[in-house]
Amino acid sequence: MNDSIFHYHNGSLYAEDVDLMTLTDEVGTPCYVYSQGRAVGNLKRLQTAFPDAEIHYSLKANANLALVRALIDAGAGLDAVSGGEIYKGVQAGALPGDIVFAGVGKTEQELRYALDMGVGWFNVESGHELARLARLAQQMHKRPRVCLRINPDVQADTHQYISTGHAAAKFGIPLGEARDLLEKHAESDSVAVEGIHTHIGSQLGAVDQTAEAIKTVLPLLDEYSDLKTLNIGGGFPVSYTGEVVPSVEEFASTIRSVLAGRDLHLIIEPGRYVVADAGALIVEVQYIKHASGGVIVVTDGGMTELIRPALYGATHEVMTLHDPSSSEFVKSLVVGPVCESADILRAEVVLPAPQPGDRLAIMDVGAYGAVMGSNYNARPRPPEILVNTDDWRVTRRRERYEDLIALEE
Ligand code: LLP
Repeated sequence: MNDSIFHYHNGSLYAEDVDLMTLTDEVGTPCYVYSQGRAVGNLKRLQTAFPDAEIHYSLKANANLALVRALIDAGAGLDAVSGGEIYKGVQAGALPGDIVFAGVGKTEQELRYALDMGVGWFNVESGHELARLARLAQQMHKRPRVCLRINPDVQADTHQYISTGHAAAKFGIPLGEARDLLEKHAESDSVAVEGIHTHIGSQLGAVDQTAEAIKTVLPLLDEYSDLKTLNIGGGFPVSYTGEVVPSVEEFASTIRSVLAGRDLHLIIEPGRYVVADAGALIVEVQYIKHASGGVIVVTDGGMTELIRPALYGATHEVMTLHDPSSSEFVKSLVVGPVCESADILRAEVVLPAPQPGDRLAIMDVGAYGAVMGSNYNARPRPPEILVNTDDWRVTRRRERYEDLIALEE
């Protein structure tokens, strides 16, 4: 959470120079609000920390077209994990050549689409995928650039659901098998294997395992002179509740020292770091229920808008839209209206005694918020608003009831 972007002014919460009370009077709740300045600022900090790296923003974190367009304008390439993300990336203004296509289960249709579009890199995750890609490329008279994603068998310091670099994970190719693939495809006319990819997880709590993963794959880069690119994925963490996490500068200097003396082209695929603290979910309190030791605050937003607390036990800070300085405080459980006990936005938080009609901002929702949303309980998705200094606009409108049945025949 960054207080200079979301801050109190004249008694109410602002995003950049926009009063969120006035904004939500107009667009209603729930809604997502994104700060363009914060997202672009985060990207710039990464560009400064990794001056020689190619930065491919990971669309899976937030694929809002207007926000993505601002990141592309600021120099980002993209990381896409499905045909749909390639499509959205191009719609947002990316050149296909500036997109890396990742993902453990690319279908034949997706590979054809990506080849047809001329995507810049294919991060390949298995021998079968490489064979399929080579066959399709030959049929289509293409020669795609490939990074082999290696599973370095490293245990990342993060939640088990978003840890990807240990041997039992579905991601990547074991080192030995990668050697066989490199031998087999060294002279291939249909694929150009030019890089190694490794990504050990998201919201990494330490830099050591990243260093370990890179050291594990370096022998491959040393043995095969065609391999000139190292893609280390994303995973740069953000502080959700004030906890200390390693900075991107720490990651950069560790990576630099592990790679010292080698002339490798570096790619990174950050998602969360770029957009998490640029976004908030604004909800309105509907009802207050008294519970032992505090209150249950029932809002109009829930796990359909932010599933992270239900899925990972994640904790997001909560701010009130009115300046809380003069209120009395009460222990609160902030929940949504969805018919699931897991539908919690924030467990155990002390808030200025909430009243029906009060609005709350759930913080750091810019990454893995809207993209993981759903229509469960036939809930229309909220609008997404992009703030840029004192200007704001609805970049995706609120869904209507008709949208809920639009695809049914
Ligand atoms: N590259 C690869 C190969 C990935 O698997 C991921 C994330 C990224 C890049 C971007 O990682 P980031 O920089 O955002 O950490 N839904 C979860 C996070 C899932 C991350 C999946 N892969 C959450 O809400 O915490």
